[in-house]
Amino acid sequence: MSALFEPYTLRSLTIPNRVWMAPMCQYSAQTSGPGAGVPTDWHFAHYGARATGGTGLILTEATAVSPEGRISPADLGIWNDTQVEAFRRITGFLKSQGTVPGIQIAHAGRKASTDLPWQGGAPLAPDAAEGWQPVGPSPVAFDEHHTVPKELSVEQIHEVTGQFADAARRALDAGFEVAELHGAHGYLIGEFLSPHSNRRTDAYGGSFENRVRFPLEVVDAVRGVWPEDKPLFFRISATDWLEEGGWTADDTVRFAALLKEHGVDLLDVSTGGNAAGVKIATGPGYQVPFAARVRAETGLPVAAVGLITEAEQAEKIVANGEADAVLLGRELLRSPSWARDAARELGAEIRVPQQYLRSV
Ligand SMILES: Cc1cc2nc3c(=O)[nH]c(=O)nc-3n(C[C@H](O)[C@H](O)[C@H](O)COP(=O)(O)O)c2cc1C
Repeated sequence: MSALFEPYTLRSLTIPNRVWMAPMCQYSAQTSGPGAGVPTDWHFAHYGARATGGTGLILTEATAVSPEGRISPADLGIWNDTQVEAFRRITGFLKSQGTVPGIQIAHAGRKASTDLPWQGGAPLAPDAAEGWQPVGPSPVAFDEHHTVPKELSVEQIHEVTGQFADAARRALDAGFEVAELHGAHGYLIGEFLSPHSNRRTDAYGGSFENRVRFPLEVVDAVRGVWPEDKPLFFRISATDWLEEGGWTADDTVRFAALLKEHGVDLLDVSTGGNAAGVKIATGPGYQVPFAARVRAETGLPVAAVGLITEAEQAEKIVANGEADAVLLGRELLRSPSWARDAARELGAEIRVPQQYLRSV
């Protein structure tokens, strides 16, 4: 019996296995005009291939709640009906393959307005051809290359919260079964959490309670429109990896308990991305202990991510109770059928498209 290929039920949703795809930006939407933020043939083929490959749940790349909330001008968005329509074709296909479609809903905050990675990935100045003015909790730039963000007023914070709720409503309309809030990697929600990026002195900054206020308001607003029977995930950076002045693993455990009370069903545990220039000692499964600690200390279900590449490794993480599921990023870019290959290696059952039965 393989733990990795046991179905997993959250609320009324049953996910066929514990091999899930991590959100990964594809920078492949049109950068402006009516096609901005709209999924393309690339997205259909890319997500479709991981679905036919047996992935239990696919989280789409960071999908912005507003044009300003994109990381790059070529990011996906979920702020209009054209985007909803295009997503519907993808979610429909994923479901036809038995794969659960999930969406990562995001606002890039002070890390918005950057060029595509294969064009250098540099921040685009607000007056550059395709750039815009980023916003954030405080007027503190990510690093010397990024634009200083405009500090959000309290009224604007409420507006962004409303955009997250609108995005969730649209995501539901587009056929998604899981919504994940992107609270990691130094984007807007994570920027509010960490004292490294949040220097506010009002109700949204300072104490732990104040720094978690906006993230929890977003959770409440989204939970308010996201159906009771569908799971809500939250992705967090469990640590800024700073010696001092940053968000820590202890903060994550404390916050996870609050997320659970506010109706979050699973924490997707990543790290880093909010402080420039920090050294992270990576290695196989290096972020798993952060997920395991949240699960052990709060009872909140977790997914582990980061350099999980081997079937036996993934199997152990789930079988040992370190995480309820694993998320694979780059390994799924390399091997779209990783789940099917892992099932064969572990001697587990997995759905195979009938067109591919002769390959079994
Ligand atoms: C091309 C690429 C794009 C990514 N885009 C996102 C994203 O949109 N949202 C996010 O939360 N993480 C993003 N990540 C991080 C991945 O979700 C994942 O956490 C990271 O790659 C570590 O997992 P891995 O070692 O399995 O690749 C991205 C990673 C890659 C390689």
